[in-house]
Amino acid sequence: MIRIENVSFRHGPTNILHDISLTIPKGGITALVGPNGAGKSSLLSLISRLQTLQEGSITIDGLPVDTTPNRQLAKVIAILRQDSIVASRLRVHELVGFGRFPHGRGRLTEEDRAIVGQSLQQFDLADLADRFIETLSGGQRQRALVAMAFCQGTDYLLLDEPLNNLDMYYARELMRSLRAIADEKGKTIVIVLHDINQAGAYADRIVAMKDGRLIADGAPAELLNTDILESVFGFRMPVEVVDGKPVALHFR
Ligand SMILES: Nc1ncnc2c1ncn2[C@@H]1O[C@H](COP(=O)(O)OP(=O)(O)OP(=O)(O)O)[C@@H](O)[C@H]1O
Ligand SMILES: [Mg+2]
Repeated sequence: MIRIENVSFRHGPTNILHDISLTIPKGGITALVGPNGAGKSSLLSLISRLQTLQEGSITIDGLPVDTTPNRQLAKVIAILRQDSIVASRLRVHELVGFGRFPHGRGRLTEEDRAIVGQSLQQFDLADLADRFIETLSGGQRQRALVAMAFCQGTDYLLLDEPLNNLDMYYARELMRSLRAIADEKGKTIVIVLHDINQAGAYADRIVAMKDGRLIADGAPAELLNTDILESVFGFRMPVEVVDGKPVALHFR
């Protein structure tokens, strides 16, 4: 369980997050949605300690993120950042293998290599394993970064806009893979999505943020509601149910 209690955060004089309290139970997919600048990435970077907690507390399975040693935390939680920059003179399998670093400090065991192989398969990268990152398309690189985070083998996976650059086929594949690893492997996935309909189709729960505050939280069927979506995104959109899933017609 990720327990966030009374977390506030500022950059200089600017308040970025205001008194956030949120509990994310173990298992399943929680989608974090909200307009640009809402504070989604800031919240994920505090959970994963990419940024230092200033106020409030965050624990993951009871481990306080501000005092748990890095190596221990890295075995529990992995993050794909929104703005990942990777060295381009690196082959795809080497990048994915970096995910194993917390387990062996760089020397890959046979088991590590097997996990790298599985991750490459899982994200359809086997044919690209020996390619240099700089030669990949944007979407292929994005998949390699997701595979690296997955390869870390943690119970908690935080993904900040992993669908960036993915075509419809791979966006669907990635969401289906995430659904499968949540359902079959009991992983807990927190994912920032801009496509509200992907959140509606694949998440168990949607948490909406705006202006550094949590403003709505519920199952997709509750959250995909014209009034709620207006309060989050600032315009009205009809919502229809297709194949049992709520679909927001945001282009109307
Ligand atoms: N280093 C920084 N210095 C000052 N302000 C910052 C800094 N980093 C982020 N912010 C501000 O914090 C607010 C929240 O940013 P954050 O990146 O968390 O938003 P977000 O919800 O992830 O948005 P997006 O959908 O655009 O990725 C924004 O107003 C942003 O300008
Ligand atoms: Mg962001």
